[in-house]
Amino acid sequence: MSDKRTSIHGQWSSRFIFILAAIGSAVGLGNIWKFPYISGENGGGAFVLVYLVCIALIGVPIMIAEILLGRRGRQSPINTMRALVEDEGAHRAWSLLGWGGVITGFLILSYYSVIAGWALAYVFRTAAGSFTGASAETVSALFDGLLASPGSILMWHSLFMVMTMFVVARGVRGGLEKAVTVLMPALFLLLLVMVGYAMTLGAFSEGLAFLFSPNFDKVFYDCALDAAGGEACHFTGEPMLIALGHAFFTLSLGMGAIMVYGSYMPSGASIARATFAIVVADTVVALLAGMAIFPIVFANGLEPAAGPGLIFQTLPIAFGAMPAGQLFGTLFFILLVFAAWSSAISLIEPAVAWLVENHGMKRIPAAVFLGILAWLLGIGSVLSFNVLSGEEFQLFGKTVFDLLDYLTANILLPLGGLFIALFTGWVMSRAASVDELGMGEGIGYKTWWLLVRFVSPLLVLVVFFNAIGVI
Ligand code: PHE
Repeated sequence: MSDKRTSIHGQWSSRFIFILAAIGSAVGLGNIWKFPYISGENGGGAFVLVYLVCIALIGVPIMIAEILLGRRGRQSPINTMRALVEDEGAHRAWSLLGWGGVITGFLILSYYSVIAGWALAYVFRTAAGSFTGASAETVSALFDGLLASPGSILMWHSLFMVMTMFVVARGVRGGLEKAVTVLMPALFLLLLVMVGYAMTLGAFSEGLAFLFSPNFDKVFYDCALDAAGGEACHFTGEPMLIALGHAFFTLSLGMGAIMVYGSYMPSGASIARATFAIVVADTVVALLAGMAIFPIVFANGLEPAAGPGLIFQTLPIAFGAMPAGQLFGTLFFILLVFAAWSSAISLIEPAVAWLVENHGMKRIPAAVFLGILAWLLGIGSVLSFNVLSGEEFQLFGKTVFDLLDYLTANILLPLGGLFIALFTGWVMSRAASVDELGMGEGIGYKTWWLLVRFVSPLLVLVVFFNAIGVI
């Protein structure tokens, strides 16, 4: 019965378009903005290695599982989980998985839109030539100026949210399909140009060494100078949790985005092959971004651990110095905005699809309603960089933005992923997963099954317990 379901929201026009849309969701600020700065904050190489291991052993099997659930259920994640729970005669509590995802996506969108707003602001700044010939100090000062102005961050955040609602209201397919086909390859090419430029800097090998040569002390130990001036180190599982969380964030896993895109995927297409293409594209883009940024960091004597402003404080220096930098820079930030746009859409699509299915709402009011809510919540993040940045407004030493980022990326997404793995591996019948994956029961299937049933859930749990100091 279940393989006869169809989606009321329509289907991607081909397998290829599904892959592009999923790449559009995966490749975004996570790859170009977040990956470099968290790698910088967590010491580089060893962190990158842990992240790559998480992608391979946790991201890949869980992505296959999440697409599989979506395509089998063919509805918004909330209703997909309900339908699958019924198919399998499982406990109703599993449906909470869909709910958790909708809320997580919504929380992420609220701050994602604020950062995408920074990228929008940089399109205009670069086009206006603000960075031409600018020194590292000038570039940093310009960034600080943006952060200090809640009014302008709010304006760019609002603009980005309107753009997102516009596409979501029209339906994810139409416009997005076309945009993604051209813009994602263009972003990739431009990143290659930036890496090419980074190669001409004296610090290219230093940048690569930072990113790729692992120093495990940085991942496992947190060191600080003690009162006597000696180094005191203590074990910390936190960087591993950040690497794990980022594997979920960058692949759009654990909250239903990939599930809802899977629900529009044509029946015959291979889920395993699609996953492979998405994961490779996403990882390559992140590594290229790192290879472009760290040589600039070291060539200019900047701080790799500069935090969320890292790309905005480094790339403009390069655009200011390289030939045709104004043009390349403007193009780069335009493409970054598009990458963020195609990700933002997928963050809210599960909620929109659910409102349309269950409350008979039309897409337009559903999108506008959710957009306004996420926009309001985003104001907390807008103010985190200025008015509310002081310690008296922080909780556990974190601003509203930091808290939302930490809660969603490091806790909610891995938890969602854990339950997706457990549901697919332990609750769903083997016959159902074999049928949906359509690759027989050979070595490929068996490997996936082993990973999704044992390896991925155990690893997620180990990293969790490790981070809170239990093991
Ligand atoms: N994967 C997106 C990025 O890297 C962010 C995202 C997370 C999108 C979760 C959808 C769901 O920017």
